[in-house]
Amino acid sequence: MANVVRDPGEHPDAIIPDFSQADPAIVKFRREDIALVYGSKWKQRYFKKVGKDYFPLGAQWDIVHRKWSPYFVRAGTDWWTPFYPADNAQRPTGPTCDGCHSVNYDIATGTVTEWNVGCERCHGPGGDHVRQPSRANIVNPARLDTVAATDTCIQCHSQGRPLTKPEPGRAYDWPVGFQMGRRLSDYWQLEEHTLGETSFTHFADGTAHKNRMQGNDFVQSVMYRHGVACQSCHDVHGTSNNADLIKPGSRMCLECHGPNSPNGPHAPTIEAHSHHKAGSSGDDCLACHMPKIAQTMPDDFVRSHTFRFITPELTERFHIPNPCTSCHADRTTAWAKQELRGWRDRSPWRVAP
Ligand code: HEC
Ligand code: HEC
Ligand code: HEC
Ligand code: HEC
Ligand code: HEC
Ligand code: HEC
Ligand code: HEC
Repeated sequence: MANVVRDPGEHPDAIIPDFSQADPAIVKFRREDIALVYGSKWKQRYFKKVGKDYFPLGAQWDIVHRKWSPYFVRAGTDWWTPFYPADNAQRPTGPTCDGCHSVNYDIATGTVTEWNVGCERCHGPGGDHVRQPSRANIVNPARLDTVAATDTCIQCHSQGRPLTKPEPGRAYDWPVGFQMGRRLSDYWQLEEHTLGETSFTHFADGTAHKNRMQGNDFVQSVMYRHGVACQSCHDVHGTSNNADLIKPGSRMCLECHGPNSPNGPHAPTIEAHSHHKAGSSGDDCLACHMPKIAQTMPDDFVRSHTFRFITPELTERFHIPNPCTSCHADRTTAWAKQELRGWRDRSPWRVAP
């Protein structure tokens, strides 16, 4: 997270694609026009500077599939589109992006203390602490209650709207005014969802349908209600894992789960719970409880964070992809239901009604 925004003047290597190969029908700007580069993991977007503001340029690079696509937030997608003209050059990134990719973005001057997710975003103002280090003058999320601890992450990893309008005529898409130590729900409301409706942000059952919604997902989970926080699984100061997991993949789950654990799964062995051979891709907790269904790029998805098992029934009724037939792509939902009904350790009323 320390490198999401970079100035190509200082870091020319931050720009991943080769502009000499770019299709001029999609990429209508030059390398020299780029004042800031956003992203290094899934996708890269580019900004030019006009006055105190930055504006998005009209193409993005898909890092995973190595290809260009147009970049423009269309009407009917993000809630804020009606408040801006249908033109990137009239959509400053201050209100729509920068508050989540910087420390202390000042809405009056457009200045920041630091681009990127710096220490103070999660530990609160640190000036006093640097002058005189003490536990009393810094926020340590490990000592907060679950709600406040998880809100450390939800301030950025969510879709929502600020509760007040910080500036007339500009719609802000981030929790202006929030800082660690305050209560996020006084500044921010998570994007609403009506059960049964599929929207830009949500599937019909309320599961996230796009990226950057780990917060919206996680607050629905049983684990959150039991005091588990994002940082129970992630160490944001960086680990050798690509997603900063404390332990890779399902080894993370087995820290708290296992055949004899009161947390479940309630089965004599993992295989007996998954009904797949040990070591099979179908035996991996993430495959069934964290499917990759939240879209970040046209054909790239990140993992769901509700940890719910999405049933084949939900696929039939609401087109929410279920893990069984996503992996067994040659089979039908009727097949998956039939198989699940045969799993005697599972409630048929829940998994295959
Ligand atoms: C994205 C949020 C985030 C950022 C950015 C961040 N931290 Fe942390 N930090 C945390 C969380 C969460 C914990 C508690 C981890 C846990 O549960 O043990 C923590 C714990 C710590 C601790 C341990 C405190 C103790 O009492 O043991 C230190 C030291 C620390 N962070 C320093 C830093 C420094 C220095 C930076 C900037 C280079 C930084 N952190 C950036 C979220 C963050
Ligand atoms: C100030 C906004 C902000 C906060 C606060 C924040 N994140 Fe992030 N996070 C980001 C951005 C932006 C990225 C994309 C980083 C990139 O592409 O380099 C990201 C990426 C990540 C990733 C993907 C791996 C990586 O490092 O790129 C994980 C995992 C993650 N964040 C977890 C957390 C957790 C857990 C917390 C709370 C302790 C947290 N984040 C708090 C903005 C934030
Ligand atoms: C509410 C906070 C928030 C806002 C507003 C926001 N982002 Fe992000 N952004 C994040 C977080 C958190 C991530 C990482 C997690 C993810 O993508 O699921 C991220 C990831 C990204 C990435 C991908 C990074 C990578 O390494 O692949 C890009 C590019 C990006 N944002 C650009 C933008 C642009 C452009 C805007 C404004 C139109 C914007 N963001 C608005 C929080 C935010
Ligand atoms: C820090 C400990 C911890 C870790 C790590 C952890 N869990 Fe949990 N999990 C819990 C607790 C506590 C519960 C609630 C148990 C109960 O019902 O009493 C739970 C419950 C669940 C449930 C049941 C949800 C329901 O709807 O009944 C699922 C599924 C689950 N966890 C999946 C996972 C997966 C997948 C991972 C790894 C990515 C994981 N857990 C990692 C502690 C943890
Ligand atoms: C092949 C798919 C699949 C795999 C793999 C899988 N689960 Fe499950 N799990 C399910 C289904 C289906 C349910 C029942 C969901 C319901 O009732 O809503 C479930 C329920 C649970 C529950 C709640 C019920 C209970 O028995 O306590 C927990 C906890 C759980 N799984 C944890 C895990 C963990 C941890 C792993 C990895 C070690 C894992 N699961 C791997 C499909 C799977
Ligand atoms: C129970 C463990 C657990 C908890 C709690 C958890 N995550 Fe994750 N998270 C994971 C796992 C496992 C992955 C997948 C890593 C992989 O694919 O290698 C992941 C992936 C991510 C990613 C990378 C995008 C992707 O899906 O590959 C981000 C960002 C992220 N988590 C943020 C969060 C935030 C923010 C919270 C809290 C709101 C949170 N996570 C809570 C286990 C957890
Ligand atoms: C990530 C991929 C993956 C997921 C998710 C998955 N499976 Fe499988 N499944 C496999 C693989 C690989 C095998 C063959 C090896 C084995 O038996 O583990 C298999 C074998 C099977 C078999 C026996 C062989 C056959 O094709 O008849 C059945 C039945 C089955 N899976 C049902 C399910 C059901 C039901 C679900 C959802 C709860 C599910 N699978 C989820 C990968 C997956």
